[in-house]
Amino acid sequence: MASQSISELPPFLFFAIPLSSVYVQNYNNSMYKIPANTLFMGKRVIYMPECHSTNSEANRMVETQDIDHGTIIITDSQPAGRGQRGNRWLAEPGRNLTFSIIIKPKAFRIANQALLTMVVSLGIHDWLSSLLPEEAVRIKWPNDVLAGDKKVCGILIENHVTGNFISHAILGIGININQTSFELPMAASLTMITAKTYDLQTCFEQVVGCIESRYLMLERKEYALTKAAYLERLYWIGEQRLFSSSGIRFSGTITGTDDNGRLEIVTNGITKTFDVKEVMFVR
Ligand code: BTN
Repeated sequence: MASQSISELPPFLFFAIPLSSVYVQNYNNSMYKIPANTLFMGKRVIYMPECHSTNSEANRMVETQDIDHGTIIITDSQPAGRGQRGNRWLAEPGRNLTFSIIIKPKAFRIANQALLTMVVSLGIHDWLSSLLPEEAVRIKWPNDVLAGDKKVCGILIENHVTGNFISHAILGIGININQTSFELPMAASLTMITAKTYDLQTCFEQVVGCIESRYLMLERKEYALTKAAYLERLYWIGEQRLFSSSGIRFSGTITGTDDNGRLEIVTNGITKTFDVKEVMFVR
């Protein structure tokens, strides 16, 4: 969880709208344009100035409405943002990207769910690498995106399953953009790293384009390629490091992930596999 206490809400910003652009006007005045660079992702953008959690909102919508594949819910202020392992995701209003993409894959097996995690992390990695030195951007298993050792992006994927297949999934994404401080020392924003200020609309459009490009690899069934690209960008892979599991510290080397997306660490010549809640990265 990248945590930041919410201070005063800044006033919402309203932009001059160029006549040539297609803007979304749902719920309230929107400042997010429909990405022009995608095939299906973000062709409908539902902007809410504030909502508890875009993932919760997306879950509610897919249960109650006929929502198109690729629809995005985005907000400026998310007081009850949800993170992994039941944590909260707190982001200063109006300074970060907090959105959820609803996807309805065709015949995508739940057994392959780790690949979904991989394509979303890869898309964000691709985008951050266009702004930062590529070697500084890493994916911390399973799906945090880091710049150096700092967490810039968190991902919360919620799958809905029918039989053996994912009927739809909510890809919840929080990216720290223009926030200038965080309570947690491991969190950082783009602005803290580069000392530049970013236009949220531009970031949104670019990152959604990158996520869609990687998602299309799944539609083309490029599973081996996806996994190879993910492992190439994995934080600490191949390095001797310190981990902790059930309160016990051990030294080991990440060698990859298994078919279920579990982390493989070789320790004392033995390969052990771990689920998300079973291992912590120490140093
Ligand atoms: C993590 O703990 O690293 C995952 C954080 C995911 C946060 C995003 S922000 C948009 C979407 N809505 C939520 O409530 N959570 C996700």
